[in-house]
Amino acid sequence: MIRRQPLPRVSEAVRLDSYPHPYPSGWYRLASSDSLRRGEIRYIECLGGQFVLWREEDGDAVHVMDAHCPHLGANLALGRVRADCIECPFHLWRFTGTGRVAHIPYSDRLPQRTAARSYPVRDMHGQIFLYHASDDTTHNDPAQPPYELPEIPDLDEGRLVYRGQHDAGRVGMHIIEFVENAADTAHFQPLHGQFRIPWTQIPVPGVQLIHSPRWMTDEERPWATHLVDEAGLNVLGRQVQRTLASARVSFWGPGGVMTFRIRLPDFGEVLLFQTHLPVGPLEQQVDFRWYADRQMPKLLVGYVVGGWFSQWREDLDIWGTKIYRNRPLLSRDDGPIHAMRRWYRQFLPDERSEDTQSRMNSVQEPAEQQETKSQVGATTLGDNADRS
Ligand code: FES
Ligand SMILES: [Fe+2]
Repeated sequence: MIRRQPLPRVSEAVRLDSYPHPYPSGWYRLASSDSLRRGEIRYIECLGGQFVLWREEDGDAVHVMDAHCPHLGANLALGRVRADCIECPFHLWRFTGTGRVAHIPYSDRLPQRTAARSYPVRDMHGQIFLYHASDDTTHNDPAQPPYELPEIPDLDEGRLVYRGQHDAGRVGMHIIEFVENAADTAHFQPLHGQFRIPWTQIPVPGVQLIHSPRWMTDEERPWATHLVDEAGLNVLGRQVQRTLASARVSFWGPGGVMTFRIRLPDFGEVLLFQTHLPVGPLEQQVDFRWYADRQMPKLLVGYVVGGWFSQWREDLDIWGTKIYRNRPLLSRDDGPIHAMRRWYRQFLPDERSEDTQSRMNSVQEPAEQQETKSQVGATTLGDNADRS
């Protein structure tokens, strides 16, 4: 978005107070797989916690544990990996990836209970993902997260090949905004209607992007939603047929992991991951990683990804200065905002505080809007779903 005025400085406390819990339950990307070598330990603060991410010395297994040693609290990031254990720098206790004490140099009596807290982690699609449970009591069994990230045979079988990644840095926003953005179909034309030079905010005069977005839940995978958009270019008032492309944006949980698949009829397909890691209540680390058909010209792939990137950037000033309206005033022709918020509740902690209760209740659809057209465009993805 091209800014004409300086950005309003909205107090963070005001913004934060308006939003739901900042760290919803779900999968989040911590790193690219190839950035973590065998035997390497990395300290990461995110999702309201402090973690160490480490890879075993003799194999490829990756683990995520609380950063601070259960013994006397040293930071395990200063330790080292010994075979399949992490060793604390303070008294040299060693822990397995599941958190069990494997060795104490000065004692044969090892604590029997699991000592260090470990988390579900997956090393797939070239990235390392952590499962975070927001209510801190359930789903933290490493073997049993409540849902998995999707298998993507096109990647595993090599039809789509790696073509690049981009660290977009940190942006000031609550994670729900990225998901709500897909259901807010009414903002597409006003905010994303101007075609821009890919990777930039420079408008191309006379060229408009025409969107036909449709948001849907997923019958088989209740933790997923999808946005299907048929996008085309309009040049000096005329639609250019060859530019028609169909895109599917899929959210695998509360906004931590998104895939964007776009098919250009004459050229092939691009698959882009966009990930958000909440490093603070209103701060997301954003990363892009993309794959494409092997025969697709790299320049074209960069153009497609850059086009998405430019559109994403248009939202940032809005997200960085807005509040969350618990009871939004919607028109009959708004997108399925309430349906999206009801879907999103599954990722929020089941807190019983009055504050949370009032926020949850306020997501109820206002009576006068229940039968309105605000649900138009919200459909359910059935059997013919894309498997990605
Ligand atoms: S603090 Fe980690 S071994 Fe003592
Ligand atoms: Fe947007």
